[in-house]
Amino acid sequence: MSETKKVLFEVTEEHLDTGLRGFPVGTCRTSSVDPIEGVHYVGYPVEDLALLDPEAAVYLLFYKNLPDAEQLTAFKADLARRAAVDLRLTGFLSALPRDGHPMEWLMAGLTFLGMTGKTGDFREDSFNMIARMPELVANVFRLRSGWGPPIPSRPELGMVENFIHMLGMPGGDPAKLTEMIRIFYVLHLDHGGGNLSTFVGKSVASGLADVYASNVAAMAGLYGPRHGRANQDCLDFVRKVGSPDKAKIEAFVRNELASGGLIFGFGHAVLRAEDPRARVQYALGERICGDDPLFQTARNMREVAVKVLQENPKVANPYPNVDAVSGTLLNATGFTDSEYYTVLFGFSRVAGIAAQIVDERLVARGGKGVAIYRCKYVPRDQPRRRLTAS
Ligand code: MLT
Repeated sequence: MSETKKVLFEVTEEHLDTGLRGFPVGTCRTSSVDPIEGVHYVGYPVEDLALLDPEAAVYLLFYKNLPDAEQLTAFKADLARRAAVDLRLTGFLSALPRDGHPMEWLMAGLTFLGMTGKTGDFREDSFNMIARMPELVANVFRLRSGWGPPIPSRPELGMVENFIHMLGMPGGDPAKLTEMIRIFYVLHLDHGGGNLSTFVGKSVASGLADVYASNVAAMAGLYGPRHGRANQDCLDFVRKVGSPDKAKIEAFVRNELASGGLIFGFGHAVLRAEDPRARVQYALGERICGDDPLFQTARNMREVAVKVLQENPKVANPYPNVDAVSGTLLNATGFTDSEYYTVLFGFSRVAGIAAQIVDERLVARGGKGVAIYRCKYVPRDQPRRRLTAS
């Protein structure tokens, strides 16, 4: 090996079967995750970006710079022009079984968007997919929940504004919902290159599957309860705690731990401090639903659960992650069915995954693109044998 080549990571037997934890695999141009400072989008701490226009954050991930006013207007107009979905979407979604999980509907809907609208160009398909997500996601909610027929799209409103308009959530306050989802969207866009859904999406794209199919695979990754579906479980957990009273929370947490249970919303594969995305949401919660008992429970968990988890030296990260409080905010603004929370996560995350796919396919290695993913597995428990007895 030449002296200029730096050894980044030495692989030993102990690293095998650990889910590639910490292995450097490639380079990422959209975001980075610092264990203490959390995620940065193209160098900006996510806390600085939380109140941006969602479209400006998407622009940043694709173009690596924040847009000026003129660029943002043009980008929003471009997304609006791309937003129309094939008219058969309603019939397609209406035929899906309601007992399917909303994430299964999302994956089916993304497959439909690919079947009816792909161009095969990674960049074009990425922008088209992102622009069509508001209508797809709104109709996953409406048709699966039985809220009524689709509401005609008004893409000129902006992506999140149009989503809330098309959602037509019964009893929802559109202004509050919009404020919440704009922030939720920006916070969930991207989290480095190695999280499960992003890694899966890029791996599938490396075989030159299109952006839609790659994101269907990515969303299957996000659907798992250890990954994106954790936000659904978190609200269910806070509901189970049952009271904002700190003594009751402490007793509940201790009891869960003693019986081998998990404390949902705390800890992270990479982070070793409080997730800044949680911090933004705690502050938002104080503003929009500070008197909501479930939010108060989540807010008090921030103090009590951390204190209890810190007593165990084996807990690498006792701090809240992005899911710790998002469910209580969604619930307080009217999204009371936690089964849909991962769909809202996916609504946003597909944009980060698409931006990374574009970088890997069209930019990496001087434009040649990342090679097809093909890692090595060490054979275990398979001695050489022959079918014919000698
Ligand atoms: C996250 O947003 O926290 C993730 O996608 C999980 C991860 O980084 O592994």
